[in-house]
Amino acid sequence: MSGDCFPGFSAGDFPPGVSLYTGKVRDVVDTGRELLITVTDRISAFDRVLALIPSKGEILSRVSLWWFDKTSGVCPNHVKAQLSARTTVVRKAAIIPIEVIVRGYLTGSAWRDYQAGKAVSGLRLAPGMRKNQIFETPLITPSTKEASGHDEPVSEREIVERGIAAPDVWGHVHEKALALFQHGTRIAASRGLILVDTKYEFGLLPGGGLILADELHTQDSSRYWYADGYEDIFRAGGEQRQLDKEYFRAWLIEQGFMGEGTAPDIPDSVREEVSRRYIEAYKAITGENFTKKALPFEAEREIVKNYIRENI
Ligand SMILES: Nc1ncnc2c1ncn2[C@@H]1O[C@H](COP(=O)(O)OP(=O)(O)OP(=O)(O)O)[C@@H](O)[C@H]1O
Ligand SMILES: [Mg+2]
Repeated sequence: MSGDCFPGFSAGDFPPGVSLYTGKVRDVVDTGRELLITVTDRISAFDRVLALIPSKGEILSRVSLWWFDKTSGVCPNHVKAQLSARTTVVRKAAIIPIEVIVRGYLTGSAWRDYQAGKAVSGLRLAPGMRKNQIFETPLITPSTKEASGHDEPVSEREIVERGIAAPDVWGHVHEKALALFQHGTRIAASRGLILVDTKYEFGLLPGGGLILADELHTQDSSRYWYADGYEDIFRAGGEQRQLDKEYFRAWLIEQGFMGEGTAPDIPDSVREEVSRRYIEAYKAITGENFTKKALPFEAEREIVKNYIRENI
């Protein structure tokens, strides 16, 4: 079954001078002027790549493109062209090494920090809040993007003080992140979903312009709840009904794996279930049925190679 999946390229697939960056999930080919971002079918959990999930890469690529299109009036983004179901040509930017996390609700790691009496990325939240409660206005709780190891929460003030972003650049990022989140929240609501929180990456173009980069409002970078039932579940103190995301982690934890030591073998049945959930999320977010368009590995590689040949 993993025969259907796309594991990623290797450096030898491309001519010399073309560099390949292998992220956990995406392969990034640098042609010098542009990047080609190919979303593979790799899945990571606890910062480790653990399996290949049928159709995952294509779904993430298409969900991002769907959102980039919907938000292009709110913030300019890196997309230049869709090359295939899983590969996008993007403008190359100097990424600001911050995960710009925006939260509409007190949940996840922010809830855990709050409960432990800690500040959330330097923010002191109002006392007496409950798990999964909506914030009066969405919060920005940034983390540093670390090359290795885990990302660390950082305050907006520190970002500027440490010179990670200039004050005017960060001001712009702050404003755009909130505007994108607000717009995303509105569109998600029209689809019966709550955009609970998400992560943005921004970059600067050679001319200094700020653009939205990376992925956008995907089920990997965002938490979504079903709006229907939110209030009742919140009042009862229950767990919200969530799109995707936790199933694979929860399965790993059940097997006693939390990122340390040898990972368990992932049976096909689990990979199929994860895939099914990615497809569900695709439908829930975009309102469209998912029909697979991704090409087999060799055909994808030829498309990318041809593009490089013609554009380098
Ligand atoms: N327009 C862009 N210009 C430059 N880099 C980009 C752009 N869009 C995305 N990237 C970078 O491409 C990489 C995508 O790979 P992926 O997200 O799979 O890696 P990762 O393992 O999550 O690593 P990282 O922690 O760096 O995100 C990221 O490093 C991201 O910052
Ligand atoms: Mg990433």
